[in-house]
Amino acid sequence: MNLQLKNRKIILGITGSIAAYKACTLCRMLVKQGAEVHVVMTSSACKLVAPATLEALSGHPVPVDIFEDADKIGHIALAGNADLAVIAPASANTIAKMAAGFADNMLTAAVLACTCKTVVVPAMNTHMLHNPATVENLETLKRRGMLIMQPATGDLACGINADGRMPEPAEILNYIIKILNSDISPEGITYVPQDLLPTPKRTAMLTQTKLLGKASGAGLKVVITAGPTVEDLDPVRFITNRSSGKMGFALSAAAKALGAQVVLIAGPVKLDTPEGITRIDVRSALEMLHAVEDNLKGCDVFIGCAAVADYRADHIESQKISKRDHRDGLTIKLVRNPDIVATVGKLENNRPFTVGFAAETQNGEEHARRKLADKNLDLIALNYVQHSNIGFDSDQNELMIFDRDGIAARYGVQDKNVLAASFCDLIFERVKKGQA
Ligand code: C5P
Repeated sequence: MNLQLKNRKIILGITGSIAAYKACTLCRMLVKQGAEVHVVMTSSACKLVAPATLEALSGHPVPVDIFEDADKIGHIALAGNADLAVIAPASANTIAKMAAGFADNMLTAAVLACTCKTVVVPAMNTHMLHNPATVENLETLKRRGMLIMQPATGDLACGINADGRMPEPAEILNYIIKILNSDISPEGITYVPQDLLPTPKRTAMLTQTKLLGKASGAGLKVVITAGPTVEDLDPVRFITNRSSGKMGFALSAAAKALGAQVVLIAGPVKLDTPEGITRIDVRSALEMLHAVEDNLKGCDVFIGCAAVADYRADHIESQKISKRDHRDGLTIKLVRNPDIVATVGKLENNRPFTVGFAAETQNGEEHARRKLADKNLDLIALNYVQHSNIGFDSDQNELMIFDRDGIAARYGVQDKNVLAASFCDLIFERVKKGQA
């Protein structure tokens, strides 16, 4: 298994922002990628999330009090040889302390002792974020070489919709992987999303901070199909395809995190709806097709990730088919379902950028290239589904992406959320290039 953060020592600092609960997911994701995670929390963070939770998730003690937890002072020693420190979420208070060089708690002391790169992920009330004090503090940290992630826009704990949210853990993880696994300098992946910049009266100060982050999907409407479809034979029986829906849901969350408006059309799956997206539940391929058609207006990107059943019963029996009536076997006539992604790919008017998937067991490249052409797609993602560690039901996947010229990208085995963020980013960059 290709663990992208294998043996990397990461200090995860958690402060008292309401987004602290998301740090638990981030911690879990880092550990799953093979990182050795050492969590440090402020006392306010402990009021929101229990240190015991983070101890369980990271497998290491979580120090809070610089004197009482003196036996855990290894964290300060660790700061000297950590590969990366990530402060997520970073409250205005801790940002101010870091800018001033305070070391009055375990977290600020560890940060001050760090010699590695430090990523700061601000998460706070939008007015606190735009207060000149915070803006200047962030600028100070940036000037000293710290990497500041751009806060996301969305519903804040204070009840308004504005910027200040902590980016989703998958996005932070993706960023960390890029920092630790590439030769690109942090500056190389700096991106100031124009449409997420604050309103003009405060633009000048914030652009100077060159906040990090990505909003490559801003302004785009994305429709995604996910999960299987279920084709009923009678009130009790049905035929379906194997699909957990995890990849399509991860793509929806990633597209949303990258700033897109997302409509997710899902077959029957047991997954929570990612925050901030519109979800439409369907059962059969025909229902899925109708839901897609109803939502194509203004759609810039269509991603057909669903494992749509190719056939349905010609006739659905209204009563349970009795065994006694079919002692020698049962013949069911199946008819072809419409191909949803091909229907979209072949639209003559207002055709969105169309992306399909090819789940294969053999000769994958050949099948993927043929499907790309036959269905008139812009991109197709090939995944091999016979390996147990990837594909069906797994949290991981490996994808090879083809466009009409050949291989557009390869993503090694990795968490589906991380993979989804990279793939969506690639799609959105292509769409924007096409629109330019
Ligand atoms: O031809 P195959 O079913 O392998 O193609 C897979 C791709 O086509 C996937 O993107 C899947 O979502 C899409 N598809 C569809 N409608 C179907 C069958 C497949 O949208 N009826």
